[in-house]
Amino acid sequence: MKISDFELYRDLLQRHSGLSLTAERSYLLDSRLTPVARRWGYPTLEAMTLALRGVPETRLVEDVIEAMMTNDTAFFRDMRPFVMLRDVILPEIVRKRGRKRNLRIWSAGCSSGQEPFSIAMVIRELQPTLLKGWRIEILGTDLSGQMIAKAKTGHFTQFEVQRGLPVKDLISHFDETDDGWNLHDDVRNLVHFEVFNILDTMDDLGLFDLIFCRNVLTYFDAKMRSTILSSMADHLADDGFMFLGDGERIDEANTPFRMIDERAGLLGFADQEYNLTPQTQMATS
Ligand SMILES: C[S@@+](CC[C@H](N)C(=O)[O-])C[C@H]1O[C@@H](n2cnc3c(N)ncnc32)[C@H](O)[C@@H]1O
Repeated sequence: MKISDFELYRDLLQRHSGLSLTAERSYLLDSRLTPVARRWGYPTLEAMTLALRGVPETRLVEDVIEAMMTNDTAFFRDMRPFVMLRDVILPEIVRKRGRKRNLRIWSAGCSSGQEPFSIAMVIRELQPTLLKGWRIEILGTDLSGQMIAKAKTGHFTQFEVQRGLPVKDLISHFDETDDGWNLHDDVRNLVHFEVFNILDTMDDLGLFDLIFCRNVLTYFDAKMRSTILSSMADHLADDGFMFLGDGERIDEANTPFRMIDERAGLLGFADQEYNLTPQTQMATS
């Protein structure tokens, strides 16, 4: 691919999704965009690139962006954040809240839904006890309309449930079908899905108690990461928490957050004191 074409895609991706495409990953352009060009009836990738230089259809730009996204995900990905959620974070929030029994959780960049559904399974586990009488809302959002449409079905393949989902949760929360597994409605209905680009204004989303933004910002450059984290901080309750992906770091000088538990990707506000202790034995500690 010509350098000028690479630059066109790099700028397009940066502007529309925040993704920072490095020259080392430019090889992805050919393999991921050639099928898009074919679908849109262009004889070659170069012909589609030419069209993108003019005033392209919004839908074509969206297809290009979606094709370049990495949607890899899994139920209970890395496990530790979900164990922390159950054993440390939710008990802490319940302890601090007193009478205000209301919880809003956002999974930003949720891909095909495994992350918010994992959160929902943790919530279901605690609903008869710790969270009895609590009103819980989980919002799953992603830039990709295709991923959100898939998430809404609550249907997963054998391969998808085999990645990370403990057998006890598979048995408790899914029904087997001819071509995979359907999530039970009591878990599915806890999550509401919407297409949302985290570069857009978050004003209409309201305030959350927990924000999961795992394995999304890792593809952004440092400045963009800090900008998004600051916006998310504005939409997080003062006693709220954030989870990033395993190994994701933050520039503490340029965000209102600090890392509380690296292995879980757990962030809290930099100006707050935390004394977090597990209420039950953490299985992965
Ligand atoms: C690697 S997946 C991570 C999924 C899940 N959070 C996890 O950790 O398993 C990254 C997701 O972020 C989404 N994404 C990337 N840029 C985005 C943006 N600007 N706004 C919303 N979602 C975005 C992608 O579409 C993709 O589904």
